[in-house]
Amino acid sequence: MDAERIAGVDEVPTDGSLLFTVAEDGEEKEAFLVRLSDGTVVGWRNYCMHWTDVKLDTGDGAVRDGEVICRKHAATFEKDSGVCTHGPCEGAELDPVEVAVEDGDVYLADPDYEFVQTGVEDDDPADLSTSPGARLGF
Ligand code: FES
Repeated sequence: MDAERIAGVDEVPTDGSLLFTVAEDGEEKEAFLVRLSDGTVVGWRNYCMHWTDVKLDTGDGAVRDGEVICRKHAATFEKDSGVCTHGPCEGAELDPVEVAVEDGDVYLADPDYEFVQTGVEDDDPADLSTSPGARLGF
């Protein structure tokens, strides 16, 4: 299989999600893995179908009570199908990132993306260094 390892299946929480970073045409994007009750792992891009600038996993997991949730307006999505079952984007589907499980490891298997890293860049030091005059004084 010509795929890149993201994490071990055991590292994917059953009641949470595991953030990772992919690149699409050189641009980094956030995604997360969720583990289903049968041990399967699926991947979704980390944004809501209602407001696409809203992240589902902000660092402490996107899953509550067995469903992916958006905390902005409380939309819920099925972990396995990504379908929004309740909320302002009901019927919409999360943006999938294809992954495959082999010998206890999860691999990126989506030709649209390249694997960058587990986790995401949450702070952006470039913002501070490029803002002239930022944080002057005390
Ligand atoms: S932004 Fe996610 S439900 Fe509105």
